[in-house]
Amino acid sequence: MNTQLTDHLTKNFRLSFEHDPKVIVRAPGRVNLIGEHTDYNGGFVLPCAIGLETQIAATPRPDRLVRVVAVDQNNDFDQFDLAQSIVQHPQKQWVNYVRGVFKVLQDHGHNIGGANLTIAGTVPQGAGLSSSAALCVAVALVLKHLTAMPNMEATELAHIAQDAESNFVGCKCGIMDQLVSTHGIDDHAVLIDCANLATEAIAVPDDLAIMIVHSGISRGLVDGAYNQRRMQCEQAAAQLGVAQLRDATEEQLSRYQPKMDHTIFRRARHVITENTRTLKAAQALKKGDMASLRTLMAASHESMRQDFEITVPGIDQLVHVVQSVLGEIGGARMTGGGFGGAVVAILPHGECSRVADFIRAGYQTPAGTPPDVMIEKPAAGACIVETTT
Ligand code: GLA
Repeated sequence: MNTQLTDHLTKNFRLSFEHDPKVIVRAPGRVNLIGEHTDYNGGFVLPCAIGLETQIAATPRPDRLVRVVAVDQNNDFDQFDLAQSIVQHPQKQWVNYVRGVFKVLQDHGHNIGGANLTIAGTVPQGAGLSSSAALCVAVALVLKHLTAMPNMEATELAHIAQDAESNFVGCKCGIMDQLVSTHGIDDHAVLIDCANLATEAIAVPDDLAIMIVHSGISRGLVDGAYNQRRMQCEQAAAQLGVAQLRDATEEQLSRYQPKMDHTIFRRARHVITENTRTLKAAQALKKGDMASLRTLMAASHESMRQDFEITVPGIDQLVHVVQSVLGEIGGARMTGGGFGGAVVAILPHGECSRVADFIRAGYQTPAGTPPDVMIEKPAAGACIVETTT
């Protein structure tokens, strides 16, 4: 929990609204260790929540207005009226994540009242670390508290946040980011079966560190490419005669290959092989079997590069730099939706500073600076930080 962020947020809440917040919540970003673009195919993912997080301070209002201040966007401000239909803001994306959650809750029949909110966070945007899921989950959690919906469980919060991003903002994302933001566990990765949302906590051995390296290549507006991949997967599933690619096997895929378009075939091959790799990686992590983890992470990256085509040259170069300094001691791959963002590595703690120095010297962001290298510990899921009753 980031107490500095809480103090900063409280101070800014008082400046904006001239009273104390009634509740402060936090929701973490995530890093995905392996299992990319498998979630919306009913497959397996192995993410962990991280210490980078979004916090929201709030009070209810007697009227139906929502006033929101984004402290770390130069106090950018939004106001909307719950008595009128909630529509997209034409320019400001951050605003739409907030509006989207209110809209989804209203659509689900919840009687939401007005609120004052301030938002601040440490999850970098466009880094593939789920800043948007952290924001949506935090808004959903704050509203659960303000509007007294005690029965709303963590999985429902995750669904509401996903719905806002998918149907209001328009990126047809899966459930991984939101679910790990609500279900994260200190010192554990979470193996999620996205077909039934069963979760299994996988301890990250004490001697292993999770390193995140931001390429400085912002993911930008890539919703179109993301949604296209999703459609291609649905097309592949239909051709293979399965409800979702999770249900297809490699053997089935090679039988159908001659009849399939080569791009659709490769999309399916990524998802089917990535599911297998993710299950194997969870076992390898349990055993601290670095040799297997390293091979699986490298194969995952290759599959994202060649079959799913979601890496970009800068990211491939960064992964190459990280893999070459790691050699046998650790594994690395791009993490998240793709087209930029961050690289995740797993390596022994004792090697972090040597490896980070090498990476900073061996890769430059598009701005010509060394990349940000972060060491993250798996963190707990979204929760209330402070509340006054
Ligand atoms: C984004 C989406 C997730 C998931 C990943 C790729 O982060 O929000 O649902 O599909 O991309 O694994």
